[in-house]
Amino acid sequence: MELWPAESIWEQISPLLPGFTVEVLPEIDSTSTELMRRARAGRTEPTLLVAERQTAGRGRLGRPWQSAVGDSLTFSLALPFAPCDWSGLSLAVGVAVAESLHPDVGLKWPNDLWWQDRKLAGILIEAATSGGRSQVVVGIGINIRPRPAEGLSTPPAALTELWPEASAGATLLRLMPALVRTLQDFERHGFAPLQARFEVRDVLRGREVHTSDGHSGMALGVGPTGALRLQQAGGERLIDSSEVSVRPLNTNTN
Ligand code: BTN
Repeated sequence: MELWPAESIWEQISPLLPGFTVEVLPEIDSTSTELMRRARAGRTEPTLLVAERQTAGRGRLGRPWQSAVGDSLTFSLALPFAPCDWSGLSLAVGVAVAESLHPDVGLKWPNDLWWQDRKLAGILIEAATSGGRSQVVVGIGINIRPRPAEGLSTPPAALTELWPEASAGATLLRLMPALVRTLQDFERHGFAPLQARFEVRDVLRGREVHTSDGHSGMALGVGPTGALRLQQAGGERLIDSSEVSVRPLNTNTN
């Protein structure tokens, strides 16, 4: 098993999240599935669950998330969470993770980190309510070392292409404080204060895009709730992230 900086992470995060625990497992079906099971069973303590291998990793919109042992960082963070408005949460998480990784990491609405038009990482946000209290489970998968294209014409990006000495443990240690602080800020103030920080990394802005529900147009950026602004012949359309994925023209790394 890789050496994980679990204690250093715990020391940094427990002042922000009282009762915080860190668990690293050699194998599980999915870190997000496991934390959702615990949340539904009424276990509400803030938990970071890291897996070296997931046998049933899940992506957005029911897609599988595949990763090889040692080549990626796969983890989920569960915490009690009750924002006034959940809109834009995956974008806020993307901002926190991208900023803690590298200045050149871009954000592809609504939940991907990109580098040089290739997917570097994905974010899966889920919510659970138990006993009237709501929790969020934030699942993140980051490609650390290059892996084969697996049916895509372009291979995914890997963090070692930007940060040659990157390891899964060091990456996790680096991003956790920013992730927790951003979630706490989001809970109080929503997405609007993060809009400008998303926009400087927005890889779709100014590009012609297609949405999975059949719309196309020029991406104009995002609004204060994180909706994608699409310019169409008839005017501007706002696309909500819940059931839609977006593909720019000339790429298939969605
Ligand atoms: C996506 O790009 O569609 C989101 C991918 C999210 C993958 C991560 S890996 C850790 C956590 N556990 C899962 O089963 N999924 C998320």
